[in-house]
Amino acid sequence: MPNFKELKEVYFLERTKTGITGLDELIEGGLPKGSTTLLSGGTGTCKTIFSMQYIYNGALLYNEPGLFVTIEANPKNIAWNMENFGWDIKKFQEERKINIYRMHLAPKKTFGGLIKDELETITGIVKELEIKRIAVDSTTAFASLIDDPSTIRSLLFKFADGLKELDCTTIFTAETKSERNVFSAYGVEEFMADGVIVLYFTPPNRSIFVRKMRGTKHSKTVHPFEITQNGIIVKPKEQVLWEAIK
Ligand SMILES: Nc1ncnc2c1ncn2[C@@H]1O[C@H](COP(=O)(O)OP(=O)(O)OP(=O)(O)O)[C@@H](O)[C@H]1O
Ligand SMILES: [Mg+2]
Repeated sequence: MPNFKELKEVYFLERTKTGITGLDELIEGGLPKGSTTLLSGGTGTCKTIFSMQYIYNGALLYNEPGLFVTIEANPKNIAWNMENFGWDIKKFQEERKINIYRMHLAPKKTFGGLIKDELETITGIVKELEIKRIAVDSTTAFASLIDDPSTIRSLLFKFADGLKELDCTTIFTAETKSERNVFSAYGVEEFMADGVIVLYFTPPNRSIFVRKMRGTKHSKTVHPFEITQNGIIVKPKEQVLWEAIK
């Protein structure tokens, strides 16, 4: 009978590689399999590109079916955005390796009921297509539903809890104020996740910081990254000073 420590090691040993050049080596080979990670950052910091690349790499490099859940954008725009990087997603969409689902946030009944319905739909897709990785972009859109921050918080918790039940490695994005120590819009998102990755844009420089990741000896420094013709590339050997981030 393995003890708890061994079980924990077995659980966290398995990694879901993001396939984003330079990133996996900062987090012991990838995101802990089955974990949830908050990807936060100000506007225009590459949250959407990162999420798309995670799903695309899953299909291209690891033969893992992925689900991109968009809350704000039209699925066609997401597909177009991906193709803009020269990623041939049509083939993967036909094979159901890349799937884009738009959440319907127009309130039909209660907000709780709405989240429940959406979670049921997402669970159905995950089971049917044997989805292994999910990206949800962006949870900040929940705020368009309601004004009351405590209701938004409880909805976010409910939603994150539902996602954790699925046997997937999940990233969800949240837009934050562009401040160094602000990791979420409602002050709770970081507590719902096993990991927090923060993106910064201090024109013209972009950088990335792994704020926390359970079960992972991760890099503690801020690293620069670039957007190339084929997507994001992180520079694991280079460092950005905190003072250089605004
Ligand atoms: N094909 C591309 N080549 C180079 N740079 C690009 C390309 N597409 C987007 N960008 C740059 O990347 C930035 C970040 O894009 P992205 O949409 O991922 O940011 P975001 O954090 O999701 O922003 P938002 O707050 O709008 O959701 C864009 O504002 C643009 O400057
Ligand atoms: Mg975005």
